[in-house]
Amino acid sequence: MKTLAEGHVHDLKDAVLSSHTTRIVAGEFSDCSSADVIVITAGVSQIQSMRSRRDDLHESAAIIRDIITEVRRYNSDGIVVIASNPVDALTYAALKWSGSPSARVIGSGTSLDTSRLRWRLGERYGISPHNVHAYVIGEHGDSQVAALSSAHIAGIPLEEFCRDQELPYDEADLKTVADETRTAGYTIRAEKGATYYGIGAALVRIVTAILRDERAVFTVSTLVPPPMGLGDVCLSLPAIIGSGGVERILSIPLNEAERRALKRSAEIVRQDLGTLDFGAATLR
Ligand SMILES: NC(=O)c1ccc[n+]([C@@H]2O[C@H](COP(=O)([O-])OP(=O)(O)OC[C@H]3O[C@@H](n4cnc5c(N)ncnc54)[C@H](O)[C@@H]3O)[C@@H](O)[C@H]2O)c1
Repeated sequence: MKTLAEGHVHDLKDAVLSSHTTRIVAGEFSDCSSADVIVITAGVSQIQSMRSRRDDLHESAAIIRDIITEVRRYNSDGIVVIASNPVDALTYAALKWSGSPSARVIGSGTSLDTSRLRWRLGERYGISPHNVHAYVIGEHGDSQVAALSSAHIAGIPLEEFCRDQELPYDEADLKTVADETRTAGYTIRAEKGATYYGIGAALVRIVTAILRDERAVFTVSTLVPPPMGLGDVCLSLPAIIGSGGVERILSIPLNEAERRALKRSAEIVRQDLGTLDFGAATLR
């Protein structure tokens, strides 16, 4: 594994002159002792393209348990961002095993799916994805929920925007957009083996928001507050991200079908959590 890490270091260093000056090392866990943010991406290879992210749960959980224990041995306070899948169950597990406050262990969650939804809507309506506001919430997986009832462009609800602009507002087409968003990971893995750039860019944005205390909104996986009625689970909701990690969780308006789908998504993650052994670990 060390040789592989060294290979990545040598390859990445070859890019430094053409990109930006960055120190790249094949490190030990002790090197993260002063890190403000620690990103964990280790996990099971994505090569078997049709496996669901949930199929890797037990193998990945064992990896995350080892890594989070070592990280917290040297760094008790840095914000941990997990990308490994299944990311919601692993974020919850890392929270338990680390004993950290919930704001400081975050999963990349549906930040990637939100990006996938926004660029697709942007293409449909001929507008920059920066000006399309819509969120994918719930599990980063097959039960994710595209919260299209609250989607808007420049403050104008989607349906009204279409009417104003004389564009077709087609519910079947929006369902196709949501389906393509949900299955995008499988599609890319079938085409090229693994997804890299989307998740890489999403992680850079989340880490930047933490380091610069941006208080920007991302759909990250986080421990759901009890009043939301979704049970003891981590999943994605829009959250304000700043130097303290998850600064605040936002409750967006949902229609009845979206509310039901979010409950179902939480149930699915809770089912997975029920198969993991947390021993005496408790949440703070
Ligand atoms: N959250 C997302 O949106 C998203 C997107 C892409 C990939 N992923 C997930 O990221 C993970 C990695 O995917 P990948 O394509 O980079 O796989 P990969 O096989 O290319 O890399 C996984 C790496 O983990 C390392 N590893 C395994 N066990 C380890 C351990 N105990 N300690 C340290 N390192 C260990 C392996 O050596 C390997 O380098 C998977 O869980 C994948 O599903 C998540």
